[in-house]
Amino acid sequence: MSEFWSTQRVLVTGGHGFLGSAVCRALATRQPAELFSPRQSEYDLTKVEQAQAMIERFRPDLIIHLAASVGGIGANRARPADLYLSNLLMGTYVLEQARLQQVAKTVMIGTICSYPKFTPVPFVESSLWQGYPEETNAPYGIAKLAQLVQLQANREQYGQSAIYLMPTNLYGPGDKFHPDISHVIPALIAKCVEAHEQGADHIEVWGTGSASREFLYVEDAAEAILLASEHYDGAEPVNLGTHEERPIKDLVPMIAELVGFTGEIRWDTSKPDGQPRRCVDPSRAKALFGFEATTGFETGLAATLEWYLSHREQAVERTS
Ligand SMILES: NC(=O)c1ccc[n+]([C@@H]2O[C@H](COP(=O)([O-])OP(=O)(O)OC[C@H]3O[C@@H](n4cnc5c(N)ncnc54)[C@H](OP(=O)(O)O)[C@@H]3O)[C@@H](O)[C@H]2O)c1
Repeated sequence: MSEFWSTQRVLVTGGHGFLGSAVCRALATRQPAELFSPRQSEYDLTKVEQAQAMIERFRPDLIIHLAASVGGIGANRARPADLYLSNLLMGTYVLEQARLQQVAKTVMIGTICSYPKFTPVPFVESSLWQGYPEETNAPYGIAKLAQLVQLQANREQYGQSAIYLMPTNLYGPGDKFHPDISHVIPALIAKCVEAHEQGADHIEVWGTGSASREFLYVEDAAEAILLASEHYDGAEPVNLGTHEERPIKDLVPMIAELVGFTGEIRWDTSKPDGQPRRCVDPSRAKALFGFEATTGFETGLAATLEWYLSHREQAVERTS
C-alpha cells in the first residue's frame, strides 16, 4: 500500500453517483486519512457559497470532483441549458474555491463529449480544440472543457495543482437505467430485458446503428482516477479508455444475446445517432501514470446485467 494515501484527507464530490461510488469503494481499500463524500442535499455546488462552505468544513488535501449533471443523448437533447449551466458553475466554483483555500490537489473529470464531432479516430488529446462537438452533447461538452481552460490558467498564474481526466463512455454495476437519463448500455439492457420478459417480437433502437462507441468499465475508471491522483501533476488533459471501438450495430445483438432476447431489432432512423465515431488513444494515461484497463468487455457487460437484474428498483430510482 502506498504511503501517499495514509496522509490524505480526500473529498469526493458526487461520491454517491455512478462513478463516485466506484471511486469511494476503490479509495476505501487505500485507507486514506479521511474520506468525505457529501450529498447534493448538503451542498449544492452550483452555489458558490455552498462550494466554499464544503471545502472550509472538510479541509481536504485532495478533491476528486465528480459531481455533475449527466445524461445520455435523450437528456442532452431535452435539457441542454441545464446541463450547460450546472456543469459550468459546479466546475468553476469547486476549482476556484480549491485554489482560494489552498487545497493541495484537485482532480477534474472531463468527458469524451468535448471532442469535435469529426475527430480522427483514435482521439488524441491534441485534437480537443480542432472543432465544435457533436451538436446534441455540445453544451455539456463545452461546459466541461471550460474547466480545462480554467485549471490550465490557474496553474500558470497561481501554480494551482489540478489535473484533467477524460473518461470515455462508462458502464458497469450501479449505472442509471431510467430511460430519461440512461446511456447506451443501460438503455439497451433495460430494453432487451423488458422485451424478453414480455415476449415481444421486436425492439426499437435509436439511430441507424452506424455510430461507434468505446466503453470503459466503471471500476477501471475509478482505478485510473486514483492512479492519476497519486502520480500525475500536469496541465495536459488525459484520455481514459480502452482503445476498443464498438459499432452500435454490433453492440445491440451482443446485448440481446446476453439477455436471451431473440426478436427482431428495428432501427428508428428518425432518432439521432449522436457523434459518428468514438474511440480514444489511451497511451498518455499509460505513459504518465501507468493506467491500463483490465476488465474485458464481455465480463463487464455480464456483471452489469447481473447487477441490473438484482437491483431493478434501485437501477431506475434516479431520474435526473
Ligand atoms: N457516466 C459516464 O459515462 C461518464 C463518462 C465520462 C465522464 N463522466 C463524468 O464522470 C462524473 C460522474 O458521472 P456519473 O455518471 O457518475 O454521474 P452521476 O451518477 O449522475 O453522479 C453525479 C453526482 O453528482 C451529484 N450532483 C449533481 N448535481 C449536483 C449539485 N448541484 N451539487 C452537488 N452535487 C451534485 C449527484 O449527487 P447526489 O447523489 O448527492 O444527488 C450525483 O450523485 C461526471 O463529471 C461526468 O461528467 C461520466
